[in-house]
Formats: sequence, structure tokens, C-alpha cells
Amino acid sequence: GRIGIIATHRAYHGRTFGALSATADAKYRDPFAPMLEGVRHVPFDDLDALDKVLDDSVAAVIVEPIQGEGGVRVPADGYLRGIRERCDVRGILLICDEIQTGFRTGSPFAFTRDDIVPDILCLSKSIANGLPIGVTITTEAVSERVPKGSHGSTFAGNPLVCVAGAVTLRVLADETLHARAARAGERFQERVRGLGLPQIREVRGRGLMQAVELKKPVTPVIKTMQENGVLVLPAGGTVIRFLPSILIQDDQLDVGIDALAQALRRAG
Ligand SMILES: Cc1ncc(COP(=O)(O)O)c(C=O)c1O
Repeated sequence: GRIGIIATHRAYHGRTFGALSATADAKYRDPFAPMLEGVRHVPFDDLDALDKVLDDSVAAVIVEPIQGEGGVRVPADGYLRGIRERCDVRGILLICDEIQTGFRTGSPFAFTRDDIVPDILCLSKSIANGLPIGVTITTEAVSERVPKGSHGSTFAGNPLVCVAGAVTLRVLADETLHARAARAGERFQERVRGLGLPQIREVRGRGLMQAVELKKPVTPVIKTMQENGVLVLPAGGTVIRFLPSILIQDDQLDVGIDALAQALRRAG
């Protein structure tokens, strides 16, 4: 069988061992080396680079439709479609890791923007509103090849978290929430750009997955924001990530933008 997996530079697929092999950053990988054999990384948002490595030894391509930990990087329109087409030609599976993007980018899944369907979809984070759950969804063709009972764990499918997931998914089925997330993201970008602060290099993202890239390290800015009650995380040394709840209201988002502006003015 094929054992090749193609992942991307700056990819983050987690720190559990199998997934860790597809995560790019040496900081996470090195302490647990050696990784699984057969995993290679190519530049993100680069179909030519992909063409150079796809051959009949490759079983799957794994990609975040928008890279999260890698810096909130939105690929060009058509990138995912290009991967899908290349996978179809060679019988390679496409795995979309929407653990971070799921239910926050203006549609339930970020891959729909390119009008594709992956063979395997990884979800987690938002789907049980904060309770610990991870879900792997596959096509029937893939699931038929997974022997019954071969994949599981002690807490997999535990009823309490599954109920939380089912209830959350019922809320997330409301399309108006996703439309609102899309608008909130556009408004966020307009407002942050409108601050006209010279420390800001770029504002990017989609829906309620947004990032502000600075021309300098973000740690002191994030610390000040946290002291003012706004919890944000970095995504690399110069990127501040905003991933609020899909239920956030404009005035609450403004509190975050004000805290950012204040922290940047203080940092100078
Ligand atoms: C795209 C993506 N995949 C997987 C994960 C899961 O990572 P971990 O194993 O660190 O929980 C994350 C967490 O941030 C993520 O953003």
C-alpha cells in the first residue's frame, strides 16, 4: 500500500503522535522524533510545489483550508480545488483539517469556498462548544476500509460530550450565524485597518478567524490585552489571532479592537 502523506510548510495538525508527523514545526516534532516515515512538507498555497511531489507512492494530502497556528494564512481561491483535482487524477485522498477553521469562517466549512469535498474531514474545537471532542468524517469508500473497532479510545463517543456536540451542531446549523460571522469579519478588518496604526503590517482572515500581523513581536501587546481582559493568542512571533465565539456581538468585538488599539499605542 501507499504510505506517503503530503503536508504543508507551517502546517499544524496537533501534537498526538500520528498528527505530529504532519505538523511542520520542529519545536513540536523534535522532542518526539523519529516521526512516521513517508510524510513530506511542501510550501502552502503552491500547486507547482505539490506537482513536484505527487506520485503513486502518495496516499493522502493533508491541508488546513486556512492555516491557523501557522499565522492565519488564507490561500488563493482555487488552491483547494487544485489539490482536489490533482488527488482525483492519482487516486490520492484529500484530508481537510478544519479543527480550527470549522464553523467560524463564514460557512460551516472553509473548504466549501472552493466547492470541493474532502475524503476525510477533521473537526474539533468548536463542535461541542468547548467540551473535549474530536470527530473524523470520511466518505463511505474510506470508512469501508477501516476495520470495525480498530480505531477508538476510552472516552471516544462518550455520551455527555456527544450530547453537547449534538446540541451545538443544532445551533451551528443556523445559516444566519455563518452569514453574520462573515460580516463580522469584514467589519473587524475595516475597523482595525481604520485605526491607521503604523505598527500594523496586515489584517487578514475570514469570518471570525482573523489575524493582525505586526511589524514587531506581539508578546507585550498580547500581555497588555490580557491584562485588560481580552484573551488573544499569537500565531507565530508577529501575529495576533482573534478567534472569538460565533455568537459574539459587534459591541463585544469592538471591546477587543479597542484593547488592541490601546495596547499598541502603549507599546509605541
Ligand atoms: C488545524 C489544527 N489541527 C489540529 C489541532 C489539534 O492540536 P492539538 O493536538 O495540539 O490539540 C489544532 C489545534 O490548534 C489545529 O489548529
